[in-house]
Amino acid sequence: MIRARISGTGSYAPERVMTNTDLEQLVATSDDWIRERTGIRERRIAAPGQACSDLGMIAAERALKAAGVGASELDMILVATCTPDMPLPSTACLLQHRLGATRAAACDIAAACCGFVYALGMADAYVRTGLRHVLVVGSEVMSAITDWTDRNTCILFGDGAGAAVVSAFEGVGGILSTHLHSDGTLSDLILVPGGGSRICPSGEMLSERAQYIKMKGNETFKVAVRTLEEVARETLAAHHMEVEDLDLYIPHQANLRIIKAVADRLRLPLEKVVLNMDRYGNTSAASVPLALDEAVREGRVKEGQLVMLGAFGAGLTWASALIRW
Ligand code: ACO
Repeated sequence: MIRARISGTGSYAPERVMTNTDLEQLVATSDDWIRERTGIRERRIAAPGQACSDLGMIAAERALKAAGVGASELDMILVATCTPDMPLPSTACLLQHRLGATRAAACDIAAACCGFVYALGMADAYVRTGLRHVLVVGSEVMSAITDWTDRNTCILFGDGAGAAVVSAFEGVGGILSTHLHSDGTLSDLILVPGGGSRICPSGEMLSERAQYIKMKGNETFKVAVRTLEEVARETLAAHHMEVEDLDLYIPHQANLRIIKAVADRLRLPLEKVVLNMDRYGNTSAASVPLALDEAVREGRVKEGQLVMLGAFGAGLTWASALIRW
């Protein structure tokens, strides 16, 4: 039976570091408050002119190199992002050209912070039904849609990119399953109201700062904990497995308190959880693949281990993937 596995990962974060102390110059906040309430110490910020595809390109090249797959071998490129270079064409098409992936179909996936896990689920389905190599990229320039005058949101986000090559193989293991969910009744929890066809770009839109992220942090927090726990249990149950079977859990790096609450409810020791939000903040669709690639490069992910990815984000969406590495 043909199955899909992650044959290589890569990531990239821009050079510029913005610390919590830097944020104290912009809004009424403090390093102590941010660290205590979120676990974030610093985040990376893209250079002027550095766009989603620029970050994604470097992560993609690193993933292809790690996989030993040439760009011309790719059948498909999926870019998960809510901060594309531009509305049209897709960032995936820009990458297709820059990588020289001459045979690849390409499109973007919009599922906010869940985008990478959603795209991984789609890559898995395509590979099981005949494609050989799919490049999945999560890339975000969140600084472009962050309101640097809003302390409720600007402390949270950062820029970065992660990528994985999903390849066909015959055998056991690889991507065991993905579980993707949505609930549009909660669409008002996290949104960028302006800049689309509802509130078109205009002077009025800009003066209302509608091009930036608005978030109901408290409500999002509660839903995040609930949905991450639920989808983790659903995923393990689908394979008749227990939490104890997990070797590594790689969650969306939104807030350390959210992750600790989920681990606590699952009775999962924190030593089995990959955490890097202290250095990157919430990089939305880049968060899970960035953490995954770091874990791979640090040797924390070993062959044969059971790895779970978990994410939640605007939509609302939540998702997981279970992988036998
Ligand atoms: N610095 C200092 N004080 C602050 C700050 C800040 N940056 N932000 C808020 N406060 C104040 C509030 O005004 C409030 O003061 P008050 O009690 O006088 O009214 C107090 O701190 C507590 O505010 P809360 O909102 O209750 O703080 P909370 O502990 O909930 O933390 C946070 C806020 C960090 C936003 C948290 O709710 C959170 O992480 N929520 C989840 C967000 C998330 O994960 N989003 C992910 C999706 S993003 C995507 O999909 C693109």
